[in-house]
Amino acid sequence: MKKSQLRSSVLLMVLSFLFSVSWATSLSTSSSGDLISCLQSNSNNVTAISQLIFSPVNASFLPIWQVAVQNTRFLKPSTPRPSVIVTPMEETLIKTCVYCAKKHGYEIRIRSGGHDYEGLSYTADVPFVMLDFTNMRSIDVDVAKRTAWVQAGATLGELYYKISRETDTLYFPAGVCPTVGVGGYMGGGGYGNLLRKYGTAADNVLDARFMDVDGNILDRKSMGEDLFWAIRGGGSSSFGIVLAWKLSLVPVPKKVTVFILNKTLEQGATEIFHKYQYVAPNIDRNLHIRTQVFAEYIGNTTKKTIRIMFEGIYQGTTDTLLPLLYRKFPELGVTREICEEIRMVQSTLVFWGLPSSTPTEILTNRSAIAKLNNKSKSDYTRAPIPIRGLKKIWRKLIQNDESALLMINPFGGRMADFSETAIPYPHRAGVLLQILKTVNFNGQPSDTTPTSLRRIAWLRSLDALMTPYVSNNPREAYSNYNDLDLGVGSTNYQEASVWGERYWKRDNFKKLIRIKAKVDPHNFFRRPQTEAGTCLRNRNYLRTVSSGTGTALGGSGSNFYFYETDTRWIPAGSDSNFYFYETDTRWIPAGSDTGYPEPAVNRNRAKELIPDFLTLVVLGFLIFIFTKRKKNTPTP
Ligand SMILES: Cc1cc2nc3c(=O)[nH]c(=O)nc-3n(C[C@H](O)[C@H](O)[C@H](O)COP(=O)(O)OP(=O)(O)OC[C@H]3O[C@@H](n4cnc5c(N)ncnc54)[C@H](O)[C@@H]3O)c2cc1C
Ligand SMILES: *[C@@H]1O[C@H](CO)[C@@H](O)[C@H](O)[C@H]1NC(C)=O
Ligand SMILES: *[C@@H]1O[C@H](CO)[C@@H](O)[C@H](O)[C@H]1NC(C)=O
Ligand SMILES: *[C@@H]1O[C@H](CO)[C@@H](O)[C@H](O)[C@H]1NC(C)=O
Ligand SMILES: *[C@@H]1O[C@H](CO)[C@@H](O)[C@H](O)[C@H]1NC(C)=O
Ligand SMILES: *[C@@H]1O[C@H](CO)[C@@H](O)[C@H](O)[C@H]1NC(C)=O
Ligand SMILES: *[C@@H]1O[C@H](CO)[C@@H](O)[C@H](O)[C@H]1NC(C)=O
Repeated sequence: MKKSQLRSSVLLMVLSFLFSVSWATSLSTSSSGDLISCLQSNSNNVTAISQLIFSPVNASFLPIWQVAVQNTRFLKPSTPRPSVIVTPMEETLIKTCVYCAKKHGYEIRIRSGGHDYEGLSYTADVPFVMLDFTNMRSIDVDVAKRTAWVQAGATLGELYYKISRETDTLYFPAGVCPTVGVGGYMGGGGYGNLLRKYGTAADNVLDARFMDVDGNILDRKSMGEDLFWAIRGGGSSSFGIVLAWKLSLVPVPKKVTVFILNKTLEQGATEIFHKYQYVAPNIDRNLHIRTQVFAEYIGNTTKKTIRIMFEGIYQGTTDTLLPLLYRKFPELGVTREICEEIRMVQSTLVFWGLPSSTPTEILTNRSAIAKLNNKSKSDYTRAPIPIRGLKKIWRKLIQNDESALLMINPFGGRMADFSETAIPYPHRAGVLLQILKTVNFNGQPSDTTPTSLRRIAWLRSLDALMTPYVSNNPREAYSNYNDLDLGVGSTNYQEASVWGERYWKRDNFKKLIRIKAKVDPHNFFRRPQTEAGTCLRNRNYLRTVSSGTGTALGGSGSNFYFYETDTRWIPAGSDSNFYFYETDTRWIPAGSDTGYPEPAVNRNRAKELIPDFLTLVVLGFLIFIFTKRKKNTPTP
């Protein structure tokens, strides 16, 4: 072996040793001994608790994380995963988890069903512990009182199934995807097939069991109406942890009527859809007609068409539905032959694309429903889209490579009975349609292949094309269809309003910020697009609006005003609970001096980077020596 060869293989060995050391160190950092020993030492049964805690060294860590990653777009090796997963069976461990995460500088992410459109319940750019509700999914239905207590980890399918085992004449007005978790769903409002008759799911929440940042367990009475308002549509995970919801069940007939039919462009789809915009949001509240718009090839040909699938559900019999439709919407062409009278629980199957005869147990099978692989955006219309607008949208859909879908739900009915500020969910009177625009990455290994990127670009340009036809000022968006494209800026109100006012509108968003400031002043419960806990985290926001001692402070045009005294901020006027005083290092809410350190995330991250940095230094040094020696080696 030549000397130089020997030298390079020694160098290689050293390098690979260094890499493995660095890899092992980062592994042990991410195995998070500090957090795990905190969890264990704060438990009275270490054996029991150890079975509920997973770090990357446990073989079951990855499967547990993956099982509820409902959007396979985030199942990439590069997706950041939690440092620790905790799967509590009861509330004490949740409290311990909050305490230990705070103590050791981890953020927390809460996962119930795992359907978050941006994966925010199970991935983050900072070290975090994932609190997974999979073991907390009990459901207690009280038929006589028409209520149910549901733990956060239960799915909508499990809730429907459980209700249907007790009665055919009660249901809960929520969505049709059986694997969606009640934990996340209710926190964003939640729409479904009964929205025209009963409003959103959050409108039908009666009470909650909720853990705040200090580990206190609250109910509606002890949390107060402001916080109870906020968690029904304002994104509960910004405020704390939902342990369970108390739901009001609603009456449904023993049999409902469903129908499905397709209309293509050749069958007059454009004109029928145009009329649908006038009829569906204004018709009898018992009728809900969802539509899905596809662009596809006609049979074997190379010519494409638009197919619109109309899916109707009527709280009544075919005999009353048909005359109603003949009167209001004869063009749709619904006939007795395509109507089917089934139980409400079966309609959930039908709207999920299954035959009504499918055994309803499937609603509780979390692996029976295929995961999606999508990027989505939402819109609301407040005026009918004119025919020429529809034609533009169809043309755009036809340009897509069959990866796109529009899913459309008409509003109106009960939705208009609620004021925009009744709960944070603001898309109420005047909304005609809610439109979900989505592309999938099926057949693509990731969402970053050229084809995937083309699809995302297409989705964004569809968004632009639809601008004239959808709501504006703000252009409304559904917070449960969260979309980080809308922006994540949050250093001040102006930046946060870009996305916040689209999800919640101005008045609600400002109220959410005030409530957030009160209940989580250190902004422990954070994620991208958290109600400007942001504005609190960034003291500069308060400072920039400061105009000196004893004067009113406020963001432009906001009601977010403070008076500054030497060491305290006091809100102008009304709410005396809401003030803070500043010490050198932290904000402490007045009245509760149990301050805790701000999450030491950055320090922690720095710690993780140290091994890599060391490797680089040693590496650089070795390369330096090596090249120097090589130069000095006399040529034979
Ligand atoms: C296939 C599919 C179908 C859908 N259909 C509908 C529909 O018909 N109607 C509708 O309104 N929406 C629908 N959605 C959107 C859905 O409502 C949201 O994605 C919702 O947030 C999912 O809740 P989750 O518990 O399943 O998700 P997760 O990803 O677990 O959570 C979503 C968000 O809620 C937070 N969260 C979860 N659990 C808790 C808790 N216990 N306490 C506090 N915060 C918590 C998470 O941190 C995260 O921010 C659908 C989504 C998908 C993917
Ligand atoms: C601790 O938990 C284990 C496993 O769940 C159980 O077998 C054991 O009895 C528990 N011990 C005590 C003291 O409760
Ligand atoms: C995961 O590994 C840690 C450390 O070895 C152990 O304490 C814990 O009990 C393991 N968790 C499970 C669920 O086996
Ligand atoms: C609608 O069209 C799709 C695609 O051609 C087809 O699979 C489905 O069965 C049709 N539905 C009805 C009710 O005709
Ligand atoms: C589709 O094309 C194939 C081959 O070109 C042909 O055999 C078949 O009959 C066609 N089917 C229809 C429905 O036109
Ligand atoms: C759930 O669905 C999966 C996939 O269809 C199936 O393999 C499994 O047997 C089902 N489980 C139950 C308990 O029915
Ligand atoms: C994902 O995309 C596919 C196809 O485009 C569509 O059928 C499905 O409904 C979409 N799901 C969601 C939740 O966006």
